[in-house]
Amino acid sequence: MRDRLSRLTRRLIPGAFLLLAACAGEHPQTMIEPVTEFGRIQTALWATVTWWTVGIMVVVFGALIFILFRFRERPDGPEPKPIYGSTKLEIAWTVIPALIILFIAVPTIQAIFATQVEAPEDAVVVEAIGHQWWWEFRYPDHGITTANEFYVPVDRPVALRLRSADVIHSFWIPRLGGKKDVNPVPRTPEGVDPLHQNQIVLSIDSAGEYLGQCAEFCGTSHAIMRMMAHAVEPAEFEAWVRDMQTSVEPSGEAAARGREIFLRSTCIACHAIEGTSAQGQLGPNLTHFGERFSIGAGLMDNTEENLAEWILHAPELKKGIFMPGAEVAAGGVAPTGLTREEAEAVAAYLIDLRRPAAGRLMDTGPGAAGAEPATGADGATGAPADTAARPGDTTAAPADSIPAAPAAPGPDPTDTTAQQR
Ligand code: CUA
Repeated sequence: MRDRLSRLTRRLIPGAFLLLAACAGEHPQTMIEPVTEFGRIQTALWATVTWWTVGIMVVVFGALIFILFRFRERPDGPEPKPIYGSTKLEIAWTVIPALIILFIAVPTIQAIFATQVEAPEDAVVVEAIGHQWWWEFRYPDHGITTANEFYVPVDRPVALRLRSADVIHSFWIPRLGGKKDVNPVPRTPEGVDPLHQNQIVLSIDSAGEYLGQCAEFCGTSHAIMRMMAHAVEPAEFEAWVRDMQTSVEPSGEAAARGREIFLRSTCIACHAIEGTSAQGQLGPNLTHFGERFSIGAGLMDNTEENLAEWILHAPELKKGIFMPGAEVAAGGVAPTGLTREEAEAVAAYLIDLRRPAAGRLMDTGPGAAGAEPATGADGATGAPADTAARPGDTTAAPADSIPAAPAAPGPDPTDTTAQQR
């Protein structure tokens, strides 16, 4: 018996240390260090409820342990006295829980109202559209679209309008606040029905990169549906918007050849790149793809080698997706038929799609080819100093110089769910 016990402890202790070790280090997705008022309200509520339940647990278990010992059966002890009904007890165990529920309900209702405010007029509107399995981000006021990561200015209200192009997803960037369902929204002749569209209104008070992910099971590759919010200084945000509205010319021969291959291949049926003839709307918009932190919504780091592998073997690397590989069809789309050499050229072109001096924002460490998310060393704290040094800032013009949205946005891809199947 003693042997078994010590063997068990020997196994449990390292396990406990492992568990604790997992709590140390970087926490890019912690919910207890929010950077928005929206998040702080929720965290405060969570703390309130947690402390109430801890208090209840201590009282209940304390009383239980006390009673078990105090009134245990003893040799020669008296027979316990049977009790039939007690009005005092009945009142106590009705009133006390009712009061506890009241103490929890009041702050909960306050938090619900505080986090459901309407967006102010000057809010930056970002439409976040869930797809199996990636995120589309549109800026209707600026006419730009991007995927899997998005930029917002700090200290300004942001209205995140959430909807889905297919099944129910859940939008969750823990440091910005709690998750919210991303539902397919019924269409009206005027467009998206705002009544059914979920919205999160928040204002981020600390520049940084905030990692998030889909938080509701939505199919085979649900776990690979990550996203990132870049909160930047207002001037940098304006520079980013301007850059997103302009095209990037290939910087060298390899990239130029990659562009030529990309534009004559089937890639353009689904992908768009600003300033080129590629205007497909079914897959992620690839404008400035070279700056993104990952390939395949968090599948792997965004390196040229990984990208070439992705172009060649996407359906094998991420199950269930609509993007075909070079040889394997997917989602009813025929294989691209690109050779390895052609795929490498296209990868060189896509990696080249970035603002002249903007590097990729996150480290692409040694684990580049692994399936781990590219959180990078800056993931938790953000890198304001680093991002502030980007040249986009120095040329930043006043806010009113941002060119307006070029034209009415094209047909809404969320209308075309059926085509994706
Ligand atoms: Cu989208 Cu889970």
